[in-house]
Amino acid sequence: MTSNPSFIQTRITDDRDVRTELSTGLLEPAARISPKYLYDALGSKLFEAITCLPEYYPTRTEAAIMQAHLGDMARHIPAAATLIDLGAGNCEKAARLFGALQPAHYVAVDISVDFLKGSLGCLQRQFPHLRMSGVGMDFSEKMDLPEELQMNRQAPCLVFYPGSSIGNFTPEQALRFLQRIRAICSNHPDSQLLIGVDLVKDVAALEAAYDDSLGVTAAFNRNMLLHLNTRLGSDFNITDWKHVAFYNTQADRIEMHLEALNTVTVSWQSDEGKRVRRRFLHGESIHTENSYKWTVERFTTLLRAAGFAGAHHYTDADGRFAVFLASI
Ligand code: AVI
Repeated sequence: MTSNPSFIQTRITDDRDVRTELSTGLLEPAARISPKYLYDALGSKLFEAITCLPEYYPTRTEAAIMQAHLGDMARHIPAAATLIDLGAGNCEKAARLFGALQPAHYVAVDISVDFLKGSLGCLQRQFPHLRMSGVGMDFSEKMDLPEELQMNRQAPCLVFYPGSSIGNFTPEQALRFLQRIRAICSNHPDSQLLIGVDLVKDVAALEAAYDDSLGVTAAFNRNMLLHLNTRLGSDFNITDWKHVAFYNTQADRIEMHLEALNTVTVSWQSDEGKRVRRRFLHGESIHTENSYKWTVERFTTLLRAAGFAGAHHYTDADGRFAVFLASI
């Protein structure tokens, strides 16, 4: 018998809060917008295209590491676990684990439960006997899994956070995020975290990955302004802005910015009905994303600081990417 996935949407940030956040960021002396606004419908498709680019090594390197070491990972991960997939999207990466890990319950978490409906529905037909749930939740701030999920308290959890998205948090945010995962793990016996981490490497390779020759990453970054026009009602003209990406060696991170090609004034309506204006001088920029790169040693220390007792790690032959399996 085929079961049906269950779906739960937790609170969605209301539009007013989104507009306040965007407006505040744009009015700061050094304007900045959270990278989560890179992902509207087009932005998500552009990101998927990025993962296929020759220069963007993380996705395929992580997939190769997983494929090469899944058998070994499975020896350390108890069967019949609850697999919690953070940022599940099309659920493809987690689905590759099902055969080896034999989870009892698959919980796909993403910002909007609507993203999950199609992918989980499809997956359920392929794996009719696996219990599946989709949760719409912004897990970057809080990690309160809803009670309605009725997770088996006796079963271990495997929290899965692939794709090196941990790099889009500052080290302080990353620590708090890992502590929240640790708290989930501590409520279930023998729980673990399986996480993908992009490693520090040659600057030219890093910068090429974030400024590809086809211009897909540039389109991904500039599309944020179209998204802002929709969400905030602003009047950004994307032809006034160029994509800039560079490696900040002091902070060990790629920074993405949008830089004004001319002096431009951008305006939008405040919730009080006033027109708000911000002038950007030629060369001034909006900081749109950080992508931190870690060393194996520093990430191991971070996991320890978050309360994980032990961690195995797996890397590719060139040491470009690492997958950590951490236990409490
Ligand atoms: C989602 N995240 C891990 C990507 C990264 O590499 O930081 C987002 C991205 N930005 C530009 N290219 C890809």
